[in-house]
Amino acid sequence: MAITRYGVIGAGMMGREHMLNLSHLRSEGAVLTCVADPHPTSRQQAQQLSLSINSSSPPLQVFSGHHELLNSGLCDVVVISSPNMTHFEILMDIIKHPKPHHILVEKPLCTTVQDCRKVIEAARRRPDILVQVGLEYRYMPPVAKLTEVVRSGILGQVKMVAIREHRFPFLVKVNNWNRFNINSGGTLVEKCCHFFDLMRLFAAANPVRVMASGSIDVNHKDEIYDGKVPDIIDNAYVIVEFDNGSRGVLDLCMFAEGSKNEQEISVVGDKGKGEAFVPESIVRIGTREAGRAGVKTVKAEDERIKYDGLHHGSSYLEHLNFLTAVKAQGSGGAPAVDLHDGLLSVAMGVAGQLSIEKGRFVTMEEVLSEQ
Ligand SMILES: NC(=O)c1ccc[n+]([C@@H]2O[C@H](COP(=O)([O-])OP(=O)(O)OC[C@H]3O[C@@H](n4cnc5c(N)ncnc54)[C@H](O)[C@@H]3O)[C@@H](O)[C@H]2O)c1
Repeated sequence: MAITRYGVIGAGMMGREHMLNLSHLRSEGAVLTCVADPHPTSRQQAQQLSLSINSSSPPLQVFSGHHELLNSGLCDVVVISSPNMTHFEILMDIIKHPKPHHILVEKPLCTTVQDCRKVIEAARRRPDILVQVGLEYRYMPPVAKLTEVVRSGILGQVKMVAIREHRFPFLVKVNNWNRFNINSGGTLVEKCCHFFDLMRLFAAANPVRVMASGSIDVNHKDEIYDGKVPDIIDNAYVIVEFDNGSRGVLDLCMFAEGSKNEQEISVVGDKGKGEAFVPESIVRIGTREAGRAGVKTVKAEDERIKYDGLHHGSSYLEHLNFLTAVKAQGSGGAPAVDLHDGLLSVAMGVAGQLSIEKGRFVTMEEVLSEQ
């Protein structure tokens, strides 16, 4: 079987999660050869992890920066799992590197719309490189099942998409990069780009304008880093209007550990309603005609998943999908979640952040046309 060699840039929590996912894809020809990270502890943790999962593979090469990794010639695919504010520079360096490397970049694509646009422009000049954006919530089995239900037409024309994420606060990260908007892009970009991507998917439309209300009310108020208190919001309501007349709402709360589900998604069309619950992994489907008595509950599973990991198997399926696209390159292989999806998910988050700041609706044109 043909081997596909992987490198991981950024070996923190998510980088090591990618390492674990790749170790479950060895039978598909995925081999992790190298990682790059400036933080000695992360490098050490990556090495230890590699020893525990890669018993028969060549020893992992470890670099302190992405330039050495790219110049090593050791990999064909690069996973970017470094902090959000580093994505732009790393992406541009990979895209401009003489050796082609396919890229799986963690969400958010970049922290600003302008940077996303520059990446798209640069990637256009490199048709030999495939780029997939890590908006992997699409692959969570209940979300994928709900997508299938919506596409079957049983719900009719989608009119409303409501996504509730009620969860625990942001985790502690290496050098606390995620505590400040300047590094993460802001909560609505950093975390909620996943949900804006799902709204677009379910509405099958593009956003027109966004209205949001949110603030930092409970979390991180007693934390200080270099004399500064974190400025990332911990709760918000966001309304999105789409160009086909449908609308979406996001209800985010990050001090809601007392929730049975972390994500609850409801999609209502003119004929029926579908709901997905994560991590319960169930989907409910009902029609107006059959009423409450006709609501069916189904368990959502995907037997292809060999590793559940931190995101209910979605990272595994994301990798499987991208590896398939990489192998099929030249015969029509294309990433399922592309740079345009990455850009719009960031732009919707940026519009939400701006709406909170300004206290008014923000049009997508306003954020997308910003130079
Ligand atoms: N898809 C998801 O659901 C999901 C979940 C968590 C995190 N993420 C994303 O993954 C990325 C990493 O997040 P994390 O939680 O692993 O953070 P983390 O702080 O745990 O790890 C980040 C690592 O990147 C390293 N790093 C910093 N600058 C670097 C550079 N220039 N080059 C290479 N490495 C560098 C740090 O030293 C650290 O080891 C972020 O973009 C985050 O948004 C995605």
